[in-house]
Amino acid sequence: MKSLLIKNGTIVGPQKNYQADIYIQDGKIHQIGTQLDTDFSTQKIDASNLYVLPGSIDVHTHMDMPVMDVTSCDSFETGSLAAIQAGVTTIIDFANQTKGHSLKEAIKDWQQKAFGKSFCDYGFHVSVNDVNQSVINELDDCIENEGVTSFKTFLAYDSMKLDDQQLTTLAEEVGVRAGLIAAHAEDGDEINKLIDTQLRLFNTHPRFYPSTRPTNTEANAVSKLIDISRNCNVPIYFVHISSKEALAEIISAKAQGVKIFAETCPQYLMLNDSSYDQDEFGESAKYVMAPPLRDSASIDALWEGLASGAVDVVATDHCPFLLAQKTGDQVDFTKIPGGVAGIENRFELLFSEGVKKDKITLNKLVEVTATNPAKIFGLYPQKGTIEVGSDADIMLFNPTYEHVISASTQITKCDYSIYEGMNVTGRCVMTILRGKIAMHRGKVSIQKGFGQFVKRGRPTC
Ligand code: URP
Ligand code: ZN
Ligand code: ZN
Repeated sequence: MKSLLIKNGTIVGPQKNYQADIYIQDGKIHQIGTQLDTDFSTQKIDASNLYVLPGSIDVHTHMDMPVMDVTSCDSFETGSLAAIQAGVTTIIDFANQTKGHSLKEAIKDWQQKAFGKSFCDYGFHVSVNDVNQSVINELDDCIENEGVTSFKTFLAYDSMKLDDQQLTTLAEEVGVRAGLIAAHAEDGDEINKLIDTQLRLFNTHPRFYPSTRPTNTEANAVSKLIDISRNCNVPIYFVHISSKEALAEIISAKAQGVKIFAETCPQYLMLNDSSYDQDEFGESAKYVMAPPLRDSASIDALWEGLASGAVDVVATDHCPFLLAQKTGDQVDFTKIPGGVAGIENRFELLFSEGVKKDKITLNKLVEVTATNPAKIFGLYPQKGTIEVGSDADIMLFNPTYEHVISASTQITKCDYSIYEGMNVTGRCVMTILRGKIAMHRGKVSIQKGFGQFVKRGRPTC
């Protein structure tokens, strides 16, 4: 593989920015220094006026995922192509265990979906939908041999949620093995009651959807899981935290030393619940996701939480559906598959709305989109950082490029964008994956299948 020399850029890490050149050889960062030079066989990349950032890591995606009677519309091929365009060099997707089947089968299913198709590197969490002795017996193998060290649990969705006994057993067993529990924290029983109430009143339009998942259903589930983290001595990673009430629980538990991590997603930082107030069923349905979009007080709290460190990660929960899949037969909001696209907009949105508007620093943006995800999910220092010896996963970012987000120009197969028409500043102009230029100014120069499965270790923070 050709060696690369990135010259004249500003390297941005989670703590500081500095001017230096980066010499890349055999897929790794070989040397970082000033005024590096090399022979003619090395390709030189001029990064003047660009930021040189660790490749982004998106630890929450759902490619090719069956939901109800449809499947998310990005395969590993199309979703990872969108990722590479946005400087995302690694994703961690959720392999779903089917009830009555093993965790290893879930991992095998997802390996088949991804193998030979992915443009970016990928790892898996496993979503555990069934806990029994044979599942517990698999945990060592998952962690030690498969490189799958995080286990997702749902407190909502009837087909996936665990009962309290199963939840506690899994938490204890993962804790003993120093693994990580990831949790979808919504109180499914309470939500079911609220759904029944709305449907009995024939309130079937998606504008009623957020009222069935109020912030207390999220905060109560977070609180319950915090107790489990404490009692079972297991770190818990909360996916897609959306509300100030849930975040308040997290802030208070962290202050007491409970080992938990919080993730939020761009949609919860950028959009509010007025998006549901549209007469057209399909227009409102576009925004159906769990948890739902919240009010501006929650949005402000999440930005503050990012700045203060209460929120550790911004991932996307990239789970796109076509408009026709979202709209279906317009029966009622419970039939709408939950989830939205976001993998190719995360960094530019957070740069535009967060860094340019002084809500967070650029260093914080790197921390929550690359370094923290790598540390929490056992990829550090192989990934998530620009250091000698790390994988040469790098994004070159132009901080002045202005553009408008539109479904007509996006790479994801999704046929709408929840950010349609939004002006953003900044764009990834080059993505380097393990020392190879994968994308330059929109032109992809690797083949599908270049992305490799990454075995992950345990959390290192
Ligand atoms: O509605 C959502 N968020 N769909 C994706 C699956 C999940 O719950 O994360
Ligand atoms: Zn979820
Ligand atoms: Zn998700």
